[in-house]
Amino acid sequence: MNKNSYNKIVEQWQEVRDTAEINTPILEFAKKLPHHSQVLDIGCGTGKPIAAFLASKEFYVTGIDVAEKMIEKALEFHLDNSEFINIDFQHFETPKKFDGIIAWDSLFHLPKEAQLDVYDKIADLLKPNGYFMFTHGTIDIEHTNPMFGENFYYSSLEKNKVLQLIHKAGMELIKTWENFKEGKDERDWIVLARKAL
Ligand SMILES: C[S@@+](CC[C@H](N)C(=O)[O-])C[C@H]1O[C@@H](n2cnc3c(N)ncnc32)[C@H](O)[C@@H]1O
Repeated sequence: MNKNSYNKIVEQWQEVRDTAEINTPILEFAKKLPHHSQVLDIGCGTGKPIAAFLASKEFYVTGIDVAEKMIEKALEFHLDNSEFINIDFQHFETPKKFDGIIAWDSLFHLPKEAQLDVYDKIADLLKPNGYFMFTHGTIDIEHTNPMFGENFYYSSLEKNKVLQLIHKAGMELIKTWENFKEGKDERDWIVLARKAL
């Protein structure tokens, strides 16, 4: 459902995100990464504004997205030191290890049952001491919601369950932002975690 829906709304999505601000948690995430870091952007959308911001900081960015129209749009921008791959994160495999991984407004599109395994997969993709930033809900829920006239599937685990899974995957919590508000942007929960050395 989400792949088809995002393919249909790519123009509206670009309009909304093209000139969006980079929220301060993302600035904090970027500051923690070493020069020329390898960064994975899961559910990168059109690549704007997040992958474009990361590329502007001279990181090597890999953006992945399940919706091919999003990836086509991201490729149109010819961002420096970036690659964009059309794939479902659940099927993504690479020998690369990343200094940083960001999943901004994308984990909540994974099927509910996949929510249990995602942190092990992320930890495996990170280098020791690598950082992971993601947005998330705070309650256990599964629902569909319309956006730009299309339906989208969402799921989320309860906050404490997520914290347990992060810990089990060998990551420590660095910082969280709850009920985050900045300009027009609002997020229930933003998490920054780090893989152990
Ligand atoms: C709400 S948008 C966020 C896009 C981007 N992170 C941003 O900040 O503008 C969610 C994105 O996640 C992608 N997505 C959803 N499920 C995915 C999956 N299983 N694997 C990869 N990408 C996925 C969608 O196609 C969409 O582009």
